[in-house]
Amino acid sequence: MTPWGPSSWKTKPARQQPEYENPDELNGVLERLTHRPPLVTSWEIERLKTQLALASTGSAFLLQGGDCNESFKACRPEPIEKKLKVLLQMSLVLVYGMQKPVIRVGRIAGQYAKPRSSPTETRDGSTLSSYRGDCVNQIPFTPQARAAKPNRLLTAYARSAQTLNYLRALSEGGFADIHHPENWELDFVTQSARAAEYHQMVRGIGDALRFIDTIGGVTRADLSRVDFYTSHEALVLPYEQAMTRRALSGDGWYNLGTHFPWIGDRTRDIDEAHVEYFRGIANPIGVKIGPSATPDKLSLLLDRLNPDQDVGRMTLICRFGADKIRSALPPLIQAVQKAGHPVLWSIDPMHGNTITTDEGYKTRHFDAILDEVRESFAIHHEHGTIVGGVHLELTGSNVTECIGGAGGLSSTDLARAYESNVDPRLNYEQAMEIAFLIAGCGRNH
Ligand code: PEP
Ligand code: CO
Repeated sequence: MTPWGPSSWKTKPARQQPEYENPDELNGVLERLTHRPPLVTSWEIERLKTQLALASTGSAFLLQGGDCNESFKACRPEPIEKKLKVLLQMSLVLVYGMQKPVIRVGRIAGQYAKPRSSPTETRDGSTLSSYRGDCVNQIPFTPQARAAKPNRLLTAYARSAQTLNYLRALSEGGFADIHHPENWELDFVTQSARAAEYHQMVRGIGDALRFIDTIGGVTRADLSRVDFYTSHEALVLPYEQAMTRRALSGDGWYNLGTHFPWIGDRTRDIDEAHVEYFRGIANPIGVKIGPSATPDKLSLLLDRLNPDQDVGRMTLICRFGADKIRSALPPLIQAVQKAGHPVLWSIDPMHGNTITTDEGYKTRHFDAILDEVRESFAIHHEHGTIVGGVHLELTGSNVTECIGGAGGLSSTDLARAYESNVDPRLNYEQAMEIAFLIAGCGRNH
């Protein structure tokens, strides 16, 4: 093995990277980024790793969620508040249902880069670079907007810092009302086939919180302060390298631009640049695993990324699709068991279930998402392994991007409030409904 360094990824082929016209301009931006303060600390990252270790053995549960693609213009108070709120409310449902601590991780404060199926896009005979996320270029189909601009990396850093600053302030206690389920917007509960069960859970959560209030000893401040961590796909490697710093105390290199970076399904080849970069950072890391994964390659990948078999280091975020999980997941579970690697198995029931409607909307059926969740719990139960977490694309507002759910969204509703510019997200009600469902699955297994 050649020695690792923050830039050793450059010796390997790197997929999905922007092509910058002017390397000097890029280097100038990276030099500036390298001197900016980190966004998170190594001790926060180590605390998260300890909690993920608990989730991998079933003593905690990881709830990871947020936009597919954060946009610079959504760095405003309301979307941030709503996202944090839905994740906190979901986490209370999960804590209550599963009777274990929930680790809250947002796809937030840095989720600005997207892998694309094609590097270019052609419209009416003209071809331009694909949109690769706000840290690279812009959506409008013009040569100027689609050109990769190094300066956008500085804006991504600034928006990440602004978002995280507000999240930290809110997590310190700005959300007392999450303790009153009677104020949550849960109209779907009544319309659900499981209305009685869900009503009972809502009452139970309210009772539990009132009980804690009444017995005293626990102050409001203890209760309203929550741990909240950030994550994003660490895709644009020059940016990630600039955020890679030595720990203030102790050894090792950390990506201090986020707590929990992950490798996408398209960039997890063991001989390529992303795996080279990730092998040297001390953060807990995620890897997306889709239908193309094979048992042998997965074992080699784990050997490379976690040679010491540290518990809490590796999260496998599985995203096969409801129709593929039954054949794809069992051989991978067996390979990981055979290799003896400790991993946190997380379910991403979103990315394998994306379809395009006749009108051209990218959407996902709520039922397919639920099927993949249920099937995943069942398969792990059969193998004696544990579902340690879930990874969702969601937002706190009433968008109409995914079809179905007790609220009854149909394909004709999609046009009403379709806001995502990449993948379709669960709206507030759909996200809460999934939380109730997972709470039920987690309790039964
Ligand atoms: C994503 O999480 O938005 C994504 C692109 O996922 P995957 O790498 O699993 O396709
Ligand atoms: Co996505």
